Amino acid sequence: ASFDAVSRALLDWYDAHARDLPWRARPGTPPPEPYRVWLSEVMLQQTTVAAVKDYFAAFTSRWPSVEALAVASDEDVMAAWAGLGYYARARNLLACAREVAANGGRFPDTEEGLRALPGLGAYTAAAVAAIAFERRAVVVDANVERVVARLFALDEPLPGGRTAIRERADAITPQARSGDFAQAMMDLGATVCTSRAPRCLLCPLASHCTAQAMGEPERFPVKAPK
Ligand code: ADE
Repeated sequence: ASFDAVSRALLDWYDAHARDLPWRARPGTPPPEPYRVWLSEVMLQQTTVAAVKDYFAAFTSRWPSVEALAVASDEDVMAAWAGLGYYARARNLLACAREVAANGGRFPDTEEGLRALPGLGAYTAAAVAAIAFERRAVVVDANVERVVARLFALDEPLPGGRTAIRERADAITPQARSGDFAQAMMDLGATVCTSRAPRCLLCPLASHCTAQAMGEPERFPVKAPK
C-alpha cells in the first residue's frame, strides 16, 4: 500500500475517533493558540495525558496568555508546577515565556525558530510547528516510534534504530495536516497500538501493518539489551 493510503486511513480514523483534549481545537476549526499547544506539549513530556489535564486547566485559567505567564514570579510557577516533576521543565517554561513576551508575545512560526527557545527540543519544536502553525513537521515521540516500528517491522534495536524509524515517519507524514497526523499517531499509540496487547482488530492501519501480518506486533520496537 502507498504511504498516501496510510496517512488517509489514519486521518479518517482521527476525524472519527480523536480524543477530546482541552488543548486541542474542535475538528474542522482553526488550530489552537501556540501558547496552549506549547504549554501542553511541555507538560506532556514525561507526564501522562490524564495527569496533565488538571495542570493544563489550572495554568491556562491563572495565566491565560504567554504574556501573563511571563510576568508570573518564579515561586508561583514552581508551586503551580509541583507534582508534575522534572522541575527543569518549569524553569525553562518561564524562561521561554519571558523570551516570547519580549518578542511581542509571538512564538516563532518555524521549527527552526522554535528550536532556539529555552526547553524546546526537536520533539516540542516539531509538535508546535505542526499543530499550532500547520507547518509540515515530523513529530516523533515514543508512541509514534512504536506505531512506525510495527507498521514497517523495523527491528534494529533502539536507540540506534531511531534513525530508521524517523526516516519512515518522515515518509508517511503528509504535506497537509501533519499536526493532525502526528496527534492521530499519538492517539493510536496510546489507545490501540499499545505496548502490550495491541488491539489490531480496531486499528485503521492493520491492513498496512507488517508486524501485524507477521502475527507478532508486540515484538516491535526492539530494545537493546541493558
Ligand atoms: N502526547 C504528547 N502530545 C500529545 C498530543 N498533542 N496529543 C496526545 N498525546 C500527546
